[in-house]
Amino acid sequence: MKRKEKKTYWRGIHSPFFFDLARHLEGGGRYVDVVYDKGLVKALEQIEGLRQNLRRSSDCIEVHDCGAGSRVFKSKSREVRKITRYVIQSKRVAFSLLRVLLFWRAHRRSVKILEMGTSLGLTTAYLAASGWEVETWEGCQQTANYARKNWKGLGCEGQINSKVGTFKRLMEESQGGWDVVFLDGHHDRDATLAYVECLKTKLNPGGAILVDDIVWSKGMKEAWSKLLEDSHWNATMTWRGKGWLFNRDGEIEQHLKLRKSYISLSKFNNMKLFTIVFAAITLLMSTQVQAQGTKEQMKTKSNAESSTSASGASKIFGEMLVFEINGKTVVKVSFDPILGRMGADKDALMASQQIGDFKFTSMGQALNVLSSHGWMVEHVWTTLERSGAVQHFILSHDVAKLTPVSPWLSKNTKKGTKG
Ligand SMILES: C[S@@+](CC[C@H](N)C(=O)[O-])C[C@H]1O[C@@H](n2cnc3c(N)ncnc32)[C@H](O)[C@@H]1O
Repeated sequence: MKRKEKKTYWRGIHSPFFFDLARHLEGGGRYVDVVYDKGLVKALEQIEGLRQNLRRSSDCIEVHDCGAGSRVFKSKSREVRKITRYVIQSKRVAFSLLRVLLFWRAHRRSVKILEMGTSLGLTTAYLAASGWEVETWEGCQQTANYARKNWKGLGCEGQINSKVGTFKRLMEESQGGWDVVFLDGHHDRDATLAYVECLKTKLNPGGAILVDDIVWSKGMKEAWSKLLEDSHWNATMTWRGKGWLFNRDGEIEQHLKLRKSYISLSKFNNMKLFTIVFAAITLLMSTQVQAQGTKEQMKTKSNAESSTSASGASKIFGEMLVFEINGKTVVKVSFDPILGRMGADKDALMASQQIGDFKFTSMGQALNVLSSHGWMVEHVWTTLERSGAVQHFILSHDVAKLTPVSPWLSKNTKKGTKG
């Protein structure tokens, strides 16, 4: 009997194990228990720099395909820029994986990961940055050579055990002992099922398999359905077209479908800049808000405006309206127009703009996203309008006291330099 997967956002998960996994995959900054030291930040900046270079590269690789073939490439000679664009994991996915590995590293004795499918080695470099012991397999010698050259440039080649050969042969020869296996190649129904079956005995207790592209083809969808039926995998979670498989002692059987968060993670290499600029912007808001004085009443029909609360703590406000048109829920989120004056820095604006522009399909979805970005609900009431009932939510976000941003400063100041 096929097990039923429960769709959920990361915030709605009760099992502590899955909650920890999901919040590191999809949660916002303050919900992530990870310390990014200087060395790690630098390593990630270098990897992303390399990704940009590869996207512009004119190199070609003569590929020997041992997998299920490609929908993008028709010939053996493949352009590196296209491989970077279409084949390897995105920065978003690689960064989420890294956060999970960093979190697990703090809670595990053994930290060994196997990546099946090296390609250009970008995701491998992310895995190595997590401090895990990394082994990676690739069937194409030319591709493996290219990846090794990339790691040399990044200075992480010493942390990666790269093996060349078919998955089948390497699997037979290997002793195993991994805590996580990322199966990111040979997306074929029977091959996937065979590798996963073999890995059952090669994983460490409590180990996990992450199978990529489980909806890539009819065969892969069937493979995932089969894996769901297998009672060995008593805990599973699908996430962004991939599936996590766990065999967990003492865990209640559960099968989750993690919905993706609609807001992108903070860009890692802009994080310091983001913090500085956001701090400067919030001070501007705080100063202007204080100049306005305390406002007792919020105008509910007009755009939401920020104020200083009675306690003296500064807040910025927003408004959410929820109503129905032709049986469909409509959610409108707007923020204090002062947010629009944060235009000097695109990153600082991005999250709120995305929330404001996004077409939420339910109130719960909107509240979920808002709360994960630090917006609290201050007041809720319902009015009866001509079109029907409208629910009003006043939202607030705490604002720190900081220095103002002067509009006449040169454009360079948006890079976070003091002006
Ligand atoms: C999707 S790419 C891996 C992407 C990489 N993990 C990343 O995100 O940077 C899959 C790789 O697996 C390799 N591969 C596919 N099937 C294989 C097999 N049966 N044996 C060995 N390598 C295989 C391919 O040559 C290809 O380079």
